[in-house]
Amino acid sequence: MSSSDYVKQNVAYWTERNAEYTDASAERAWAAEEITWGVWRTPEAELDVLGELEGRDIVELGCGTAYFSAWLARRGARVVGVDPTPAQLETARRLQRETGLEFQLIEAPGERVPLPDASFDLVLSEYGASIWADTYKWIPEAARLLRPGGRLVFLRNATLQLLCMELDGVVERLVRGQRDLHRLEWEDTGEVEFHLPHGKLIDLLRENGFDVERLLELYPAADAETHEYYAYVTVEWAQKWPSEEIWVATKRG
Ligand SMILES: C[S@@+](CC[C@H](N)C(=O)[O-])C[C@H]1O[C@@H](n2cnc3c(N)ncnc32)[C@H](O)[C@@H]1O
Repeated sequence: MSSSDYVKQNVAYWTERNAEYTDASAERAWAAEEITWGVWRTPEAELDVLGELEGRDIVELGCGTAYFSAWLARRGARVVGVDPTPAQLETARRLQRETGLEFQLIEAPGERVPLPDASFDLVLSEYGASIWADTYKWIPEAARLLRPGGRLVFLRNATLQLLCMELDGVVERLVRGQRDLHRLEWEDTGEVEFHLPHGKLIDLLRENGFDVERLLELYPAADAETHEYYAYVTVEWAQKWPSEEIWVATKRG
């Protein structure tokens, strides 16, 4: 598979996901009043990772149906959503028309973003480029897009969860090694995912001019239940080990 074939493969996968789930669920996500993070919907008000949003220039890499971008735009940020899957962007455009909340949407992968250098205060990815783009290519793009002092915030699966992920869900056993973790191709769906372990990711961020500020490991609330759609990880597992993680890094001035 050539280096860009995985992008085509993931776009095909996300076109299907759009038809079976994300187009129908996007309206509810857009309408949510609160900003929340991940499968366990941890409130931003509890984590405080985004900081001031009003008047900030923000780009979301892998914006999908753009519900996260919509939450930010509603709070006064100037947002641009970037995604390579036309069907996902079409859902985002439909919701823009229906809600009257307009912001720029661009069709592109996180590895090659057609936007100028140093034009954003925040680069965000919520399960977008953070897992579907090659880490060695999108982190330098994020660095290029940020102004000095700007921040990179992204949510992805926790490393431990990926190490315990079988095709049909997360188990209480390590099923793959960590040493060469980078690119994972799921045999059943053909999706290609990327994940660097913590040490390598810290090195890559630092090489690209970032200082790592925080690594938040997310757990469900005590009364949470297994998600009806993202049931690959059970609440029982995630109460014991982190299933998701948020990285916060600042571009050095
Ligand atoms: C889980 S969705 C993102 C959800 C998003 N935060 C939202 O608010 O809807 C994942 C998205 O990643 C996108 N994606 C796939 N390959 C990508 C790449 N190389 N770079 C950036 N995004 C990619 C998919 O098209 C899909 O829309």
